[in-house]
Order: sequence, then structure tokens, then C-alpha cells
Amino acid sequence: MSQTLGIDFGTSNSAAGISINGRPCLIEVEAGENTLPTAVFFDFENQKTLFGRQAERALINGDDGRYMRALKSILGTPLMHESRIMMGERVTFVDIIARFLRRIKSRAQEVCYQDFDHALSGRPVLFHSNDPARNEQALKDLTLCYLAAGFKSVEFMPEPEAAALAARHKGDGLKLIVDIGGGTSDFTVFQNTATGIDILASHGVRLGGTNFDRSISFDHVMHHFGKDSEIRKDFGAGTHAAPRAIFHDLATWQMIPFLYTSEVKRKVSDLQRNAVDQQAYTRLMSVLEDHLGHDVAFAVERGKIQVNTDGEGMVNLTTVERGLNQALSVNMLTTSLTPHMENLAAAVGEALTLANCSADQIESVIFVGGSSLIKDVSRTVQHILPKATLHYNDAFTAIIDGLALASARPR
Ligand SMILES: Nc1ncnc2c1ncn2[C@@H]1O[C@H](COP(=O)(O)OP(=O)(O)OP(=O)(O)O)[C@@H](O)[C@H]1O
Ligand SMILES: [Mg+2]
Repeated sequence: MSQTLGIDFGTSNSAAGISINGRPCLIEVEAGENTLPTAVFFDFENQKTLFGRQAERALINGDDGRYMRALKSILGTPLMHESRIMMGERVTFVDIIARFLRRIKSRAQEVCYQDFDHALSGRPVLFHSNDPARNEQALKDLTLCYLAAGFKSVEFMPEPEAAALAARHKGDGLKLIVDIGGGTSDFTVFQNTATGIDILASHGVRLGGTNFDRSISFDHVMHHFGKDSEIRKDFGAGTHAAPRAIFHDLATWQMIPFLYTSEVKRKVSDLQRNAVDQQAYTRLMSVLEDHLGHDVAFAVERGKIQVNTDGEGMVNLTTVERGLNQALSVNMLTTSLTPHMENLAAAVGEALTLANCSADQIESVIFVGGSSLIKDVSRTVQHILPKATLHYNDAFTAIIDGLALASARPR
């Protein structure tokens, strides 16, 4: 039987690894890199599908094509199985994710000089909070994607349990993994044993960095594109508020590709005709015409990271309009993140309840996932667990380290 490939298929970043002599060995999924952005670009001019950083470069260059990110968030939704024509071919999101996974598989085979017929994939504890049917469907969808990518079989391991396996922190007390990624937040309560680890409970919620981006964008950026501006009535005097749905979609990574249809453009052009703020709607039209939705989302994401790191930041919107920027302060960030932090706190509480332990019993918290670097996140967790020591494992590779280790287990 061929060796199993460990794969962390993330909302924002993915990685692959195997175990060599009991140690995780990460695959160079792109030259010089052991993670790659979970991004796909259909290059219309060259009729090619690009992945990872190449896809991002094509987007930044403004190449003619269609860019997609946060594909994992679509798993379990009806959109997964709707087909659309892409470069003359009818494709579904199952096909698109399968192509991305096939790229990881073939790259791993190339650098390891061996075939990988079996995958051990990470999965969030819950793809969709409070929706068991969607959650089950998401796992079915992801299984289909792996099989369509050419794997003969796939097994799944909850992502925070993989991180617990790879955690290097010693000591007998209870430990809590807090994995805040791009799309989900996952928790595992565990303790070390003589032979490995004992998992007491895992819990998760559909909440991550892409939700943070969405809130920041909606609260502080979308007004540049007409959110909350007034639209004159077609007949008679007076105005009404602009509908908000389009601004929600433009602020949501996985919904952006669905905005570039003639139907949406027609609706916006109708609004533009009667808009009080003409400039904002001209910008919105150019975002739709020139496919700049992801440029805006990336600018928001960069602004978020900058303000979190430096204490002040800027959402640079100059790809949309020369000189257009939105300053971001720590207070603005906190305002947008507060509802998410309340959900996060409730989810930590739920994980402790499932593990049947009290906050005081958690001796250490191990943060993983890119969004665990957000200061409001550590403040929120420390507030609930004042006695715990906070540790940071490798934010972007802790999960794949664990999956790589587990991939060598007999099955
Ligand atoms: N320095 C940083 N500060 C704050 N957030 C960051 C930083 N770097 C990356 N992020 C955020 O981390 C998220 C990606 O993290 P990660 O790669 O762990 O997610 P993922 O594994 O792809 O997602 P998931 O596990 O939810 O499917 C993004 O939302 C990104 O904006
Ligand atoms: Mg992750």
C-alpha cells in the first residue's frame, strides 16, 4: 500500500506533509514554500488554471480571468454542485477544489518520487455551526473532491486534534488548542500521557479571519462604494436607503466571483442612475466591470494585519481609484471584531463544558492558525482563562505537522 499524504486544506492556505522517522516532513508545495494560498485563477488568455501564488500574481497583474479564494467555505452549500462555463468547459466547485487538490498531490509525488493514493485530510470540527445537515454535506463534498483529485481513499482528522498531536508543550495539566484560521475556529482540550495524548473534547464554530475581513470591510470600507447612501425614488420626491445585499457579498471573499454577472451589473447601474452619491456608485460599477472585488478584499486583509501589528493601518484602495484610502485604527478593528469575540468566548466555554473541566483547570493554551495572531483573540481567551499560560505554535504549519505525523499510523 502506498504511503498516505497528509493534507491541510485550509480556507486561506493549504499544506501537505508526510512522516519520516517519526518526524513531520512538510512538502515544498511551491518552490521554497511549505504552504500555498488556497487560490485558483482561470487564465482566460492562456486557457490555463493557475494555483496558489501564481493565481495571486495573475490577480495582482490584472490578467484577464477569474480568481477564486475561500473555496472551503462553499463546501456543504448548494453552490458546490451548480455548474458554470469556465474556459469553454462546464465545471462545478467540486471540480475546482479537486483540481487544486490534484495539484498538491502531483507536486508531492514529484518531490517525493512516489505515488500517494491515500490522503489524511484535516477537517474543521464543524464546517457549519448549528447545521448538522450542511456539516454532513460538507464532509461528503470534500470526500468527493479528494476522490475526483485522484486519491483512492481519504480519511479525516479534526484540525485541532492534529495540532494537539504536534504540540511540543510538556507538563501534566490540561491544555487547550485554539486554532483560529481563515474560515473556522476550532478547540481541543487534551493532556499528555506516557504514550501520546489523551483528547478530552473538541469543538468548533464557523468563524475565522475571512469573517473578520468581512466585518471590517462592511463597517469601514463599503461606504466608499455606496453602502448607506441614499437612492432617489423613481417616481415622486424623496429617497430610500440603498439595498445592502451587494455590499455584504462584496465584503465576503467567497461571494465575490458571483458579483460579476450582467444581472448584478444591471441592478447596480439602475441604482447608479438615481444615486445621490454618484462618485460611490461609479466606483462600485468599476469594481464590477474590472473585477476588482478581490483587490478590495486583499486591501482590507492587509489593513487588518497592519493595524493589529502596528497599532494603525490603512486600507489602500488605489487600484479602484487614485488616492483612495481608508485609515483603520485599533478602535475601529475592535468595534468590528467585538461580536466575533463574543462568539469565540462562548465557543471556548462550550469546549470546556464538553471536556467537563473548569477554566481554572486549563494550564496552557496553544494558539495556532493565522487569525490567532489577532490581539483581540488572545485578550478574549486570556480573559476566560486567566490562570493559563499562552503559547504560540507555528501559526501556519502546526496542523499539517500533526497530520503528517498521523499519516504514518497504521490504518
Ligand atoms: N499576522 C497576522 N495577523 C492577523 N491575522 C493574520 C496574520 N496573518 C494571517 N492572518 C489571517 O489568518 C487567516 C489565515 O490563517 P490560516 O492559514 O491559519 O487559515 P486556514 O488554515 O487557511 O483556514 P481554516 O483552518 O479556517 O480553514 C487569514 O484570515 C489571514 O488574514
Ligand atoms: Mg487551518
